[in-house]
Amino acid sequence: MPDATAHRLQLDGLDAGYDGVPVVRGLTLHVQPGEVVALLGPNGAGKTTTLNTVAGLQAPVDGAIHVDGEPIAGRPAHKLARAGVALVPEGRSLFFNLTVREHLKLAEGREPLAKQDLMDLLPELEKCLDRKAGVLSGGEQQMLAVGRALVSRPRLLLVDEMSLGLAPVIVERLLPILRRVASDLGAGVLFVEQHVASALKVADRAYVLNHGRLVLEGTAQELRDRPDLLKSSYLGEVAVA
Ligand SMILES: Nc1ncnc2c1ncn2[C@@H]1O[C@H](COP(=O)(O)OP(=O)(O)OP(=O)(O)O)[C@@H](O)[C@H]1O
Ligand SMILES: [Mg+2]
Repeated sequence: MPDATAHRLQLDGLDAGYDGVPVVRGLTLHVQPGEVVALLGPNGAGKTTTLNTVAGLQAPVDGAIHVDGEPIAGRPAHKLARAGVALVPEGRSLFFNLTVREHLKLAEGREPLAKQDLMDLLPELEKCLDRKAGVLSGGEQQMLAVGRALVSRPRLLLVDEMSLGLAPVIVERLLPILRRVASDLGAGVLFVEQHVASALKVADRAYVLNHGRLVLEGTAQELRDRPDLLKSSYLGEVAVA
């Protein structure tokens, strides 16, 4: 039974990594329902490792992961997906020979999001429904990757580098969708983004990882007001604020 007083996502002292060796150490963070939270940091900081661990693609080395108060550490990805944890992975993972409609159909859960609600969030997908993923533009592919995650009405949406390889103008169009997913669907959103300024425009709060450790956290406003702190955190020079 979900605990209504708990955070949507809570990580406590999470160690995550490969073959039992952590590359992320002691990570504590939370995301509330309706909240958009950015996970920032330089290449190799451990952002993807964190998201993949929360999504159940890899088991944590140590620490606790709770979704709505329920401990989920170690549960496999397909079970977490059914429980409302959706990941838009780095690289999108689309099937180039399947159409947009087929991708969306395959991702439907027991109570899929109404088609109209999905098209309200991602109107560009409507004209592409019968096109194969392989012929879509990069921006359309990314919208499909997000749409596929949304049809199951996630409680927690994890998004890894939505803007990878896309023009800035497309990124400015895509990121605000995360805000609407949080406000319209009440989902908690944790997203990884290289474009820090764009990320801080849509996020409520942000955490910065460097070398697998949390080095800075704050509201988006606080971090926008302190570019010096943000810059130091990318260079690995600040302790948690
Ligand atoms: N499959 C793997 N096996 C062993 N080490 C890995 C594996 N995948 C990633 N790593 C290592 O874990 C560390 C964190 O990688 P991760 O991909 O989580 O970083 P990231 O913050 O997502 O970086 P980027 O911004 O480049 O995507 C890196 O040192 C990386 O080399
Ligand atoms: Mg990554």
